[in-house]
Amino acid sequence: MTDLKQLRSVMVEANGMLPFEVYKELYHLAAQGSGGTIVEIGTAHGAGTIALCLGALSAGKEPQVFTVDRFEGRYSSRTAYGGVVDNLEIVRTNFRSAGVDRHVQIFAGSSSDFAAQQSLERIDVLVLDADGRIDRDLINFADSLSNDAAIVIDDYDSRAHFSSRADGSTYIDLKHVITKLLLDKYASAGLVDITRICHSTAFCRKKAGSHWDKRQMADLALECYRELVFTDFDRNTIAKWLRQRAKSNIPAWLLRRIRDYRTARMKPVPL
Ligand SMILES: C[S@@+](CC[C@H](N)C(=O)[O-])C[C@H]1O[C@@H](n2cnc3c(N)ncnc32)[C@H](O)[C@@H]1O
Repeated sequence: MTDLKQLRSVMVEANGMLPFEVYKELYHLAAQGSGGTIVEIGTAHGAGTIALCLGALSAGKEPQVFTVDRFEGRYSSRTAYGGVVDNLEIVRTNFRSAGVDRHVQIFAGSSSDFAAQQSLERIDVLVLDADGRIDRDLINFADSLSNDAAIVIDDYDSRAHFSSRADGSTYIDLKHVITKLLLDKYASAGLVDITRICHSTAFCRKKAGSHWDKRQMADLALECYRELVFTDFDRNTIAKWLRQRAKSNIPAWLLRRIRDYRTARMKPVPL
């Protein structure tokens, strides 16, 4: 049984991008489930995969985990670590040191390629933490989801973000906004039940007895994408982003000097 302190340090070693509470929930979800097949879209460096695997193993289950990531591309956070080969090396090392490599199959490619190439008969847990296009993944995996499959969806909140790439170019990131619109739409259409929200991660279940009509799901999704035309933007987000940009342009040596100067001013003056 992995204790929570151990789990925390494994998550840090694997460059986990989610709050620790979310990894704890993933661990417990896999421990409580009936075992079986877990599919995760958005491996990054494997923190979520490891949490799921260790959870299942802690309950004496033999999980079969498929984890999928393109590990490259204009909008992938993995680009900062090199190409596909470099990222695969990092992920494999992380899986080995967490002792889960035997249970995990890594697919380097898009979630659509994975869905087209793998014909999984049954998925018991589906975790989506990729690019916000959850309609695509839910439709692609609709036929494989077990009747009471657990579905975990990250980036479930209405916050629009500004983001910058390593080359300094900037884009508007509506991944969270579209995820919330889509999941709420599917929940109100009676396809999923949202059972718990931890930070920005929604823990859901496929609704018992629901019929997933892929054509209808695509139509519902189109309504959500249409809503993006006018998207609210919180002014604080803009201010925060501008501050971060300004800060990232200040050289490290100057930041150190400012910090030392502030620390010196805070020291009590000897009487
Ligand atoms: C936020 S990170 C995942 C974080 C990870 N679950 C963790 O626990 O640290 C999102 C990842 O999704 C991947 N990704 C984005 N779009 C994808 C797609 N269409 N198919 C497969 N992977 C994708 C990116 O390359 C990136 O590594």
